Order: sequence, then C-alpha cells, then structure tokens
Amino acid sequence: MDWHTFLIITHIIGTVLGVGGATFAEVFYLKAIKDGAIDPTESSFLKTTYFILRLGIIILVLSGFGLLLLNRLEGATQYLYDPRLWAKLTLTLVIVVNAILLQIRLIPSWLGFSLSFTSWYAALVLGLWRGASAAGYVTIMLWYVVAVFVVAFILDRIKKWYSK
Ligand code: HEM
Repeated sequence: MDWHTFLIITHIIGTVLGVGGATFAEVFYLKAIKDGAIDPTESSFLKTTYFILRLGIIILVLSGFGLLLLNRLEGATQYLYDPRLWAKLTLTLVIVVNAILLQIRLIPSWLGFSLSFTSWYAALVLGLWRGASAAGYVTIMLWYVVAVFVVAFILDRIKKWYSK
C-alpha cells in the first residue's frame, strides 16, 4: 500500500471517529438530560464518547499534515491554495477550542454543542465536496456560520420536544 492510500485511510478513520463521536455525544446528551440530571452511568458514556472524539481529531490532524507533506514532496502544492483546506483547518481549530471551552464551561451548551456538531459535519462535507473550492474561503465560512445557528435552532427544538 502506498503512503497516499495509507494516509487517506487513516484520515477517513479519523473522520468516522470524529463525526460519529459528535453525533453520539449529541444523542447521549439529549437522552441523559431528559430527566433533568446526568447520572454517573450517563456521564461515563459521555466521557467515553468525548475520548473517541479527541482520538478522531488527533488522527485527522496527524494524517492531514501527513497528506500535505506527502503532496508537498510530490510537488502537488495545489492543496495549499485550496480554500476548502483553509476552511477545514479553521473548523479543526474551532472543534479544538470549542471542546476546551465546553470542558471548562466557558461557552453556553446550546452554542457549544451546535459548534461541535456543525463543524464536524461541515469538515466532512468540505473534505469530499471538491466543487466547494469555487465558492472561496469567505463564502464557505459565511455558510458555516449560518449553519451553526440553524443547527442550534433545530437541536433546541429536538431537545424541547424530546424532554416533553
Ligand atoms: C474535522 C477535521 C477534518 C475532516 C472531517 C476531514 C475530512 C477529509 C475528507 C473526508 C477528505 C477526502 C478524502 C478523500 O479524498 O477520499 C479529506 C481530504 C484531505 N484532508 Fe482532511 N479533514 C479534516 C481535517 C484536515 C486537516 C486538519 C488537514 C491538514 C492538516 C487535512 C488535510 C487534508 C488533505 C490534504 C486532503 C486531500 C487528500 C488528497 O486527496 O490528497 N484535513 N479530509
């Protein structure tokens, strides 16, 4: 197996752990707060899910830089000018900073959970949707900001409906 294939497979494993983890973190959190309190079992499920999320982002960053280095060594520098890559790097930074702020409770959970959920799915879409490059970095990020608030609204509706 060549290095490019190995790094792409590793990158996709990171994506699966991250996007899957962000989805189950939201599902487990909704189930846990249904009765208004997070009991020790629910808390341990959430802690395990957050651990998988962290593992996903570490694998993504390492394999991502590996891909950039490999492309650089092969003279394929087009990725360095691709707005999708810079948008994904921005979302990766948002995912990491947001996780820290949620951990130390310095961000309201409605915004923190939406930032986490939206950033992971947006990075997945950006990774696969090659045509998105044409939109440019600013347009991609503007759509992302809109998506964060739309997702926050939807998650809030689901939470209200589910806890009724
Ligand atoms: C949440 C974070 C991220 C997600 C979900 C993500 C997801 C993806 C996906 C799905 C692909 C397409 C793989 C394919 O072509 O089959 C991809 C490609 C790529 N990603 Fe990421 N990525 C993330 C972060 C990063 C970071 C932080 C970097 C750089 C440090 C990076 C660098 C790349 C590169 C260079 C490619 C193109 C690989 C190639 O086709 O040669 N990604 N990413």
